Amino acid sequence: MSSRRLVLAAALALPVLASAQAPIIIKFSHVVTPDTPKGKAAQRFKELAEAKTGGRVKVEVHPNSRLYKDKEEMEALQLGSVQMLAPSLAKFGPLGVKEFEVFDLPFLFKDTEAFRAITDGAMGEELFRKLEPKGIKGLAYWDNGFQIMSANRPLHSVADFKGLRMRIQSSKVLDAQMRALGAFPQVMAFSELYPALQAGVVDGTENVPSNLYTQKIHEVQKHMTLSNHGHLAYAVIVNKKFWDGLPGDIRGQLEAALKEATAYANAIASTENDAALASIRASGRVTLHTPTPAELNAWKQALMPVHKAMEPRVGKATIAAAYRAAG
Ligand code: LMR
Repeated sequence: MSSRRLVLAAALALPVLASAQAPIIIKFSHVVTPDTPKGKAAQRFKELAEAKTGGRVKVEVHPNSRLYKDKEEMEALQLGSVQMLAPSLAKFGPLGVKEFEVFDLPFLFKDTEAFRAITDGAMGEELFRKLEPKGIKGLAYWDNGFQIMSANRPLHSVADFKGLRMRIQSSKVLDAQMRALGAFPQVMAFSELYPALQAGVVDGTENVPSNLYTQKIHEVQKHMTLSNHGHLAYAVIVNKKFWDGLPGDIRGQLEAALKEATAYANAIASTENDAALASIRASGRVTLHTPTPAELNAWKQALMPVHKAMEPRVGKATIAAAYRAAG
């Protein structure tokens, strides 16, 4: 073969070889177990993404903080060591995007629809735009329902919180919330929660039933109050440079996969949490308390001032926009 022909043959073979040998890898790291709403939705995204791209993309899901813990995963995303995450909205403060903490305001949402009205509307998009200067692109919001309180003593009245060391996510609004109840908030990675409760480093926490059950928190706590005072949700985010550099057709296929995975995540959140709560109850290890209307009212009285107090942090306009969207 002439050298010109050789070069031509090599050039023709190259794209085939490249696509056959080197799928684009998306490392998707998260901190919960595979059998949670987020864990299941991440797996669903992987399956859809790989099918829709005909194997040109491979998604490696790394669950349960196996690869990175809360804070490290954000840094890893910015550095490009992972390409995709779905952190809770309560974990964007340390990045400097404090407006996300609006979602942590206690008793902000009367129901799931109120939460979705924010994320599906202009405000959801505007919050995502604030991530771009950090090298991060927001793609979707995944709901995970309402949080309950957990401790080794029954939490009925506000006074019951006095002096309790409560694990929180890294949000100043959650810090203010626990202080307003008379507790001592302690920021801690999700992966450290079980050992910290077991060792008595902290006394209690708040979370959604699916997280409490899958982390076996019911084994190291005696009481949970079904307060639904806070809401947990995630932002599916990617490294912006990686995402913008993808071939257009692949990006479109991944967007379609994510759209379906998002619908799935949002559809299963409430039933998964109901099932987890039933499992906690069935374990017989925890006493579940449903607050009376008077108890709940007292919690609200103590917690609503947090909204005003957090205006300088979260932004008055952001809080007002959230009120308007949530109705
Ligand atoms: C937590 O840290 O409590 C949650 O954000 C964990 C999660 O991702 O659901």
